[in-house]
Amino acid sequence: MSERTENPADDQANILAGQRDYYRARAPEYDEWILRRGRYDHGPEMNARWFEETEQVRDALIGLDIRGDVLELAAGTGHWTETLARTAASVLALDASPETLAVARERLGRAGLAEKVRFEIADLFEWVPDRTYDAVVFGFWLSHVPDDRLQHFLATVAASLRPGGKVFWVDSLRQDSATAPDQPLPAEEEEVMTRRLNDGRTFQVIKRFRSGATYEAAFARQGIDLTVSETPAYFQYATGVRRE
Ligand SMILES: C[S@@+](CC[C@H](N)C(=O)[O-])C[C@H]1O[C@@H](n2cnc3c(N)ncnc32)[C@H](O)[C@@H]1O
Repeated sequence: MSERTENPADDQANILAGQRDYYRARAPEYDEWILRRGRYDHGPEMNARWFEETEQVRDALIGLDIRGDVLELAAGTGHWTETLARTAASVLALDASPETLAVARERLGRAGLAEKVRFEIADLFEWVPDRTYDAVVFGFWLSHVPDDRLQHFLATVAASLRPGGKVFWVDSLRQDSATAPDQPLPAEEEEVMTRRLNDGRTFQVIKRFRSGATYEAAFARQGIDLTVSETPAYFQYATGVRRE
């Protein structure tokens, strides 16, 4: 759990460091969330709805027919990396956690796609692209970006995209049953929440829910035309194109 200081900028830096530590420590149990196991098992009916909706999002990503060189930000344990690597020529998968990327590397190896993917450790609040890509993709990352860093992050996305290049992202709708019952979501206007691991350790992370209209306006400021869609209960997902 991060310490509070007299300085809000230090507080935020501490939370972002805690967020990195959290995902490093969570790597071996991360997939329980997407697979609805353990603390994330909400019973057959709600689990079935979750899986239906994750498939809806995956179908939207597949429908985008992403080809060429792809940049994936906050790739984590590689759920989306595997889908991307099936059609892309190459994927550069960035994440701050060596532990989650190790899980992703194994997953891509099992799928026979390892040769298409390069994994690199990077802090996305510091990382600067040295080339452009045909597409940029990020899953469940935007809600971990604080309000006052959103435009800077989106400028990095725009700088990573060639004109006409595609964006795809997915994130969480505010829905209590998306997470475990022992980690309540932050109040409407708050952006910090406490996350727990299976062993009871706690960490603070940013979790900011924003409307589709907020995202569409924020991406437009960076020259990206974005359309945000929602599944019935759990997910917000978006496709976009960088203007020529
Ligand atoms: C919710 S997970 C999403 C993982 C994956 N994209 C998915 O959809 O399952 C968030 C990811 O962000 C990564 N992360 C946290 N802070 C980061 C930072 N400052 N820079 C890069 N990655 C970071 C974590 O390690 C974690 O893998």
